[in-house]
Amino acid sequence: MSEQRKMYADLKDELLITRDQIAVRVKEMGAEITRDFEGKDLTVICILKGAVVFFVDLIREIDLPMTMDFMAISSYGSATKSSGVVRILKDLDKPINGKDVLIEDIVDSGMTLSFLKENLLSRGAASLHIATLLDKPERRRVPLHVDYSGFTIPDEFVVGYGLDYAEKYRNLPDIGVLRP
Ligand code: IMP
Ligand code: MG
Repeated sequence: MSEQRKMYADLKDELLITRDQIAVRVKEMGAEITRDFEGKDLTVICILKGAVVFFVDLIREIDLPMTMDFMAISSYGSATKSSGVVRILKDLDKPINGKDVLIEDIVDSGMTLSFLKENLLSRGAASLHIATLLDKPERRRVPLHVDYSGFTIPDEFVVGYGLDYAEKYRNLPDIGVLRP
């Protein structure tokens, strides 16, 4: 059995979101961002590592000149639950400019992004837009406005397309629910 087949065997049989569904939705999100940021000085910021696969697909669907920047954070907590206490492992190269879109893989409790948003706004961002591939609204513990959301999903732990469990499964092209 190939290594990829073995990883798929750890997932529930029915995939939650297939690569084809992702591609369609990412195209739509790119078109939305293109409309909203036309004529503006767009910087797309990828939050490493989970958002990286979404980011590389999304930016190729944005039909505008743009720059990219990266932030790496680690949130304290267990593998499946974040505490919202975030440590910045790699900061932005450039100052925040007010025309930024922050790219995240998934909003769960909302703690990570509300911390980051506050942190970046305190450094002078006029406004900050959030784009996430996945959203689990049932799990929200703090209010958070998400500007662009790919898919709303139920309260289940998912992997693939950048999302990991203990750093594994990020390279699966589809998104599935991990078997308990
Ligand atoms: P939050 O701070 O609770 O919103 O958590 C956000 C972070 O938790 C995401 O960036 C992911 O790294 C991780 N996370 C939350 N839910 C999942 C999941 O279902 N699969 C993989 N990672 C997840
Ligand atoms: Mg993660």
